[in-house]
Amino acid sequence: MSTIKALIDLKAFRHNLETVRKITGEDTAILPVLKADAYGHGVLPLAKEALKAGAPAICIGTIDEGIELRKAKIAAPIIILDGFLDEDIPEILKRRLTPVVFSADTAALLNRAAKKDGKIINVHIKFDTGMSRLGIPFTDAEESIKKIKRLKNLKVEGIMTHLASSTDTNSPQTEFQIGRFDKIIEMVKRNKLTPKWIHSANSGGILNFPSSHYNAVRPGIMLYGIPPSPLKNKKIELKPIMTLTSRIISIKTLPSGEGIGYNATYITPRSKRIGVVMGGYADGVKRLLSNQGAVLWNNKPLPVVGNICMDNFMIDLSRAPEAVQGDEVILLGPQHEKISSQIWAEMATTIPYEIFCDIGRRVERIAK
Ligand SMILES: Cc1ncc(COP(=O)(O)O)c(C=O)c1O
Repeated sequence: MSTIKALIDLKAFRHNLETVRKITGEDTAILPVLKADAYGHGVLPLAKEALKAGAPAICIGTIDEGIELRKAKIAAPIIILDGFLDEDIPEILKRRLTPVVFSADTAALLNRAAKKDGKIINVHIKFDTGMSRLGIPFTDAEESIKKIKRLKNLKVEGIMTHLASSTDTNSPQTEFQIGRFDKIIEMVKRNKLTPKWIHSANSGGILNFPSSHYNAVRPGIMLYGIPPSPLKNKKIELKPIMTLTSRIISIKTLPSGEGIGYNATYITPRSKRIGVVMGGYADGVKRLLSNQGAVLWNNKPLPVVGNICMDNFMIDLSRAPEAVQGDEVILLGPQHEKISSQIWAEMATTIPYEIFCDIGRRVERIAK
């Protein structure tokens, strides 16, 4: 049993799914992005919840993540967003995964393997309209569509693109990408392909660019309750679903002038009660929170003092004279702005996505 725990609020997750639904309307399918263990939140309970809420498929990053879900008896369509190699094709077929194909050559290889197995395999074709990551380049789109159309053992269930700058409403890039994608949709129609799903919008697209919604959207970070950039529309409320808790495992009173932690980056200015908390950078408590971060004890923020270690860090208990060994502290969550993922991200000069993905394997995820 681990002392540091990530409590995952399934009701808040539901609320966030509903928020997406309200923005996009009932007729737009939600394809939740649950890659990287649901951005570190723990994939299985969230996959089940999303499917219960009506998601027609779920999106994950890699073949291994797909295999894990199939082993956990998830029978729904699983879309592999982030690529695969030729040697992954047998597993794709065996596990009935839905790969995103990003070149006509890979599509041909998949088709050959499916034909050999006597199977028809569902795929989504990904077009690169400006992200310059995975996807068929815009300039090759029509030729590739023609080639893929000829592959009789592939069923093109979806076409998609990915938006690079949808959090930036001042950038012309999203409209430019949508313009290219609209042209690709025309090519697809012209070539008589009839994909069920057409999708481009990540959370930024959902929130900022209605023209990117088409008939399906791929929300990630907003389902975890975090807007991809500050929300301008005050009517939209997202609820962070993770609360990271731990406990004080030791308390001591140190005299004035004592150094705390590696390299004594904090020196007690007077006699102080110091708490040692279980959890450190191996658990995702970023080292850049050293002498900057805070934890919540009985709703009171208490400062982190000294450098965060691998498995522990220290807090100043001056404002919590009643704190005792074993008390719970909240490290990260929606309960206070000083422990929000956005504040962590600011201190660690990164984005909340990375904060969540870095929550370590030792942290027990408890979804309720
Ligand atoms: C292809 C694709 N679609 C959708 C998403 C979801 O993005 P966000 O978490 O910003 O909503 C991601 C996330 O990285 C992605 O790679």
